[in-house]
Amino acid sequence: MPEKTVKPDILGLTASLITWGIKQFKGKGIQDVIEAVHLQNKEGQRPILRKKHPTDNGIDYVFALPAGVDRSDFERERHYFESYLNSIVEFEAQGRKLILKTYKANFKKKIPFDFNPSLYPEMFAPFPVGKTPDGKTLVEDLYNLPHMMVGGQTGYGKTSFLLVVMVACLLSGVKVSVVDRKGVDFPRFAPWVNLALTDADTEVLLQQHIQEMHRRQRILREAECQNFAEYAEHYNDLPYLVLFIDELTQIRNKACFEAIGDMSVLSRVSGISMILATQKPGAKIWDGFTDVRSQLSGAMCFRVRDQTDSQIVLGSGNTRGAELPKIKGRAVWNNDQDQIVQSMYLTAKEAYSVLMERVSKGVYSFANASNDECTERIDT
Ligand SMILES: Nc1ncnc2c1ncn2[C@@H]1O[C@H](COP(=O)(O)OP(=O)(O)O)[C@@H](O)[C@H]1O
Ligand SMILES: [Mg+2]
Repeated sequence: MPEKTVKPDILGLTASLITWGIKQFKGKGIQDVIEAVHLQNKEGQRPILRKKHPTDNGIDYVFALPAGVDRSDFERERHYFESYLNSIVEFEAQGRKLILKTYKANFKKKIPFDFNPSLYPEMFAPFPVGKTPDGKTLVEDLYNLPHMMVGGQTGYGKTSFLLVVMVACLLSGVKVSVVDRKGVDFPRFAPWVNLALTDADTEVLLQQHIQEMHRRQRILREAECQNFAEYAEHYNDLPYLVLFIDELTQIRNKACFEAIGDMSVLSRVSGISMILATQKPGAKIWDGFTDVRSQLSGAMCFRVRDQTDSQIVLGSGNTRGAELPKIKGRAVWNNDQDQIVQSMYLTAKEAYSVLMERVSKGVYSFANASNDECTERIDT
């Protein structure tokens, strides 16, 4: 492995020791952390604490930044601040000002599924990412991503999160397909979703998506629409589609990898999203995976094994996934910026009852492939 990995627990321990040291021998509070970690520019100028005021959730520390120091310098030292302040810490940059926000309010450890997509009529595929430290529910639209990677060690909540997103999708009329090579969590949802449980099924399902993607591109072109959103303003014959792949690393088939690669690049405009979950983001899945990763702009990272895995899920330099506490459902959501969340908890059994109660059965039927190829040939 090319990157040097530092065990997160050792990192955490070092942070605690240093912050303990700071607390023992000095008395200027948070400014001491800045000095201790040498958060400064080349000239040795440091951020200066200008104000400190309580908020509903904790304390806001407002710093004036010298030239050459920015938010990323604070992000890098996050675990020192978190350890010193004994709190979750978020940073907000406003020009040369930086606000360090602490959140004392403890997350509830189990947040039951509670989501009503009709509150988000402007979104195609709204889903609850989770609760943020200030107690609000963070909701995103898959269409804006449009693809997502979900990483985390076994037992930290990947599948539960996929169930949350899947149920949210089905509640808003989005059509869902699922690849479940483990075959344990999703088969019961066959009345609502297209399922693939083997490599052979997966290959067929992926090909159906690729053909659908080409079909949709042609439909959009003929309707003179630039993208799915524009098309959906005028027509309602194409439902939004989401393909979930749980345990990506269990797929061993080259044709499947290629199809996933094609989808990651091309389905952006056609109203098709893909969500890939894996417990081993660092595993050499296949050579082209790095290119696929770069197309997945949303990332949900539960606690991962090490800094390398965190960086694969969250992006280069981002080791927060390895520094998360050992709490199930706790994750770093990343779409441009990081956000710590506690995801909603949903078991397969509960998901099933929600669907039985609120969603009528029926799966998306893909257009017939052979007819489609014919039309494609006449077209070109
Ligand atoms: N959001 C959550 N909040 C609290 N506990 C959770 C959450 N998600 C999962 N869990 C707990 O963790 C266990 C494993 O979750 P699961 O989604 O199967 O993890 P993974 O797919 O990552 O292996 C669940 O049985 C449940 O006890
Ligand atoms: Mg799982």
